[in-house]
Amino acid sequence: MAEGSRILRGMLCDLRSNPFQSGDALRFSEDGCLLIDAQGRIEARLEPHELPPGVPVEDLRGCCLLPGAVDAHVHLPQVFMQAAWGEKLLSWLERYTFPEELRYADPAYARRGAAAFCSQLLRAGTTTACVYGSVFPAANRAAFEAAAQVGLRAIIGPTAMDRDVPAGLRTAPEQTAGLYDALFHEFDRPPYSGVALTPRFALSSSPAQLEVCGSWLAAHPDCLVQTHINENRDEISAVRALFPELSSYLAVYEQAGLLGERTLLGHSIYTTEAELAQMARRGSWAVHCPSSNLFLGSGLFSLEAHHNAGVQVCLGTDIGGGSHFSLFESLQQVYGIAQLGGRALRAEHLLYLATLAGAEALGWQSHIGNLEPGKRADLVCVDLQRDPLLAERLRHCDDGDELLFALLFNLRREHIREVYVDGVPRGPALAELIGSLAGSDG
Ligand code: GUN
Ligand code: ZN
Repeated sequence: MAEGSRILRGMLCDLRSNPFQSGDALRFSEDGCLLIDAQGRIEARLEPHELPPGVPVEDLRGCCLLPGAVDAHVHLPQVFMQAAWGEKLLSWLERYTFPEELRYADPAYARRGAAAFCSQLLRAGTTTACVYGSVFPAANRAAFEAAAQVGLRAIIGPTAMDRDVPAGLRTAPEQTAGLYDALFHEFDRPPYSGVALTPRFALSSSPAQLEVCGSWLAAHPDCLVQTHINENRDEISAVRALFPELSSYLAVYEQAGLLGERTLLGHSIYTTEAELAQMARRGSWAVHCPSSNLFLGSGLFSLEAHHNAGVQVCLGTDIGGGSHFSLFESLQQVYGIAQLGGRALRAEHLLYLATLAGAEALGWQSHIGNLEPGKRADLVCVDLQRDPLLAERLRHCDDGDELLFALLFNLRREHIREVYVDGVPRGPALAELIGSLAGSDG
């Protein structure tokens, strides 16, 4: 047995595959063991009777170990304006979002934002996130640093805009490539982090900026692209007015060469059948953001329509349009919205959307997303006994499927005992980062 290995023993629950495509995807073990090597990788899944001698065991019986959540759409510079009252998308952007994002020009404010953001995600059980970052380079560097401090795996994109936003947020087309080059080539990023090409949406990028983005992508074909699409009816009308020669919202991104298998299109509520067919041909992903879609009154996403068209779907909180930081809590809204569409999703579908789907969308499925040997040990340890009423509820479940469903519907931050990234418990680093916020007045 390699030096430095250890074992976590408890209830294990994850997906071996995509449950929308194959049966028998849910893996549930009431009492299982993960052997974790000194480098933070899952070496093996074992039964308790198979435990090798001499390897320290952390006894987590009474807890459930889930894979860390993967939030595929979330805005860092909106961490302090989540729960902003009373507006729909376009007026919400004007009234709250753009003024807040301008504040990240101040490096001290940006450091506080980064610390709060990474702490909020990690303590909610999110271990990997694809992030809309700032236009200000120092703010993005602070974001990578805060993420590394707590162990959050972050793919971050400077949010590119050059029209219809305050002047301080604009990047001229000829400077747009530099925004990404600075992070991609010149900044020493932590391992398992990344940079995403991030033109905000069709309304805030001129054709010239979109073209630059397309060229940058052609030179960096493995890079992720993230943007918004078909979120709000007024937004769609404005896109139509701005690009009258194009047949659809999607065509704006298609024309710029931005659609591929590593493209994440946030919201996609009013996407037409023709657009869905094109997304499927390109292999692009839709990111369902249920919390935000409800909070901003944007509309109801159809998982069914996307799947019927062959479009894959993952999940995002979309903070600050989203009203909470927990992707696990978003599952309750995913379920309710699917019910309104006539479909009752199973526990395995919900868990997939919060974990393995995001890993696949980011192209990181060989490293994260489930508890498969060979993957990083990114885990959420949920204490099933901390709340006696939750414990009592779970005692009334007959099998793993039922238990997981009840657990996902009741899982709150208070039930999370620990979050592990690379097998390392991140509670102490998290407490330190949160403490640094409390101890400074910014
Ligand atoms: N569309 C363009 N920018 C944004 C944003 O910051 N949040 C949401 N929800 N939609 C957008
Ligand atoms: Zn968004």
